Amino acid sequence: MEYITLKNSDLKVSRLCMGGCPMGGYGWGETNEQNFLTAIDTAIANGVNYFDTADTYGLGQSEITLAKGLGNKRKDVVIQSKFGVRILDGKTVYDNSPEYMREALEKSLTRLNTDYVDIYVIHYRDNTPIEEVVDGLKTLQKEGKVRYFGLSNIQKEKMDELLPYKNLFVNFQNEYSLACRKFEEDMQFVSDKLNATPLTWGSLGQGILTGKYDINTKFDSNDRRSREIYVNFHGEKLKKNLEIVEELKKIAAAHGKTVPATAIRFILDNLKDSVVIAGVKSEKQMLSNLDALDWSLSQEELKLLNQISL
Ligand SMILES: NC(=O)c1ccc[n+]([C@@H]2O[C@H](COP(=O)([O-])OP(=O)(O)OC[C@H]3O[C@@H](n4cnc5c(N)ncnc54)[C@H](OP(=O)(O)O)[C@@H]3O)[C@@H](O)[C@H]2O)c1
Repeated sequence: MEYITLKNSDLKVSRLCMGGCPMGGYGWGETNEQNFLTAIDTAIANGVNYFDTADTYGLGQSEITLAKGLGNKRKDVVIQSKFGVRILDGKTVYDNSPEYMREALEKSLTRLNTDYVDIYVIHYRDNTPIEEVVDGLKTLQKEGKVRYFGLSNIQKEKMDELLPYKNLFVNFQNEYSLACRKFEEDMQFVSDKLNATPLTWGSLGQGILTGKYDINTKFDSNDRRSREIYVNFHGEKLKKNLEIVEELKKIAAAHGKTVPATAIRFILDNLKDSVVIAGVKSEKQMLSNLDALDWSLSQEELKLLNQISL
């Protein structure tokens, strides 16, 4: 396993983080709790010590399943959860207020069966002044309920307000993969200006980069990827992604690695000192993704993958 110490912290984490969104059991087609529990066991047995979840994933179900899977190993791993998205009167709204932050954290701690989260992440920013958000986080930190803070999906116009907080946030997560390079500059900005470790979500393009889908793939209506906003599976973007997959298949074969592992390796090699979050639905998928660690793409392979994905 490859490990990295997250910036501004003493947290030494695996460069592969298990993503908890599918564990919510909602909007990802067929899922099965036992398969998630086995995947968590396999992850830990192979050196993964980093787990990403959020209060919104399956409205808390992801945190419950994660706690069940970790059992008495909770203290051996790094858990990050998120707050800031809530359902009010049936509508999804962003809420970073300290009052809601505390309410959300208490509920997450109960579901996670723990008295602290290692990293508490602002899922999306709202208009609460950043000073108030940071004060709220620091208060929870003083109480021992949160060890460190993280950022996620910060829009460009909300970046400058963060500049006074260099060396405060340990990480910053955004969508990034061979199928999505549009936030690369933002990620560079945050990692340089705020000194925060870049984390990638949607690292497998929600599954398109695994090589198992083709132009005729159709998802059931209980799978979010059936909707056109999941652009990776629709129209011209789908065609382009399938071309990338063809190159990935050749490179994977040359190294004797799996296609998803090769897609993950691209991020590990291309985005310096990053951590890849990948969601999985089974032990088999976890093992296949673990194949991404402890080797490198050649400079020529990196150049080619860069060229075809930009
Ligand atoms: N901060 C944010 O706003 C944000 C947003 C989204 C996600 N995230 C985090 O990032 C994580 C990763 O993103 P994601 O889960 O949306 O997408 P992803 O990691 O790109 O794709 C995950 C999906 O790909 C398929 N898959 C994964 N490994 C595979 C393998 N080895 N072989 C075949 N299929 C495989 C599985 O679905 P199928 O088997 O059904 O294809 C899995 O659910 C999330 O779980 C979550 O923790 C954060």
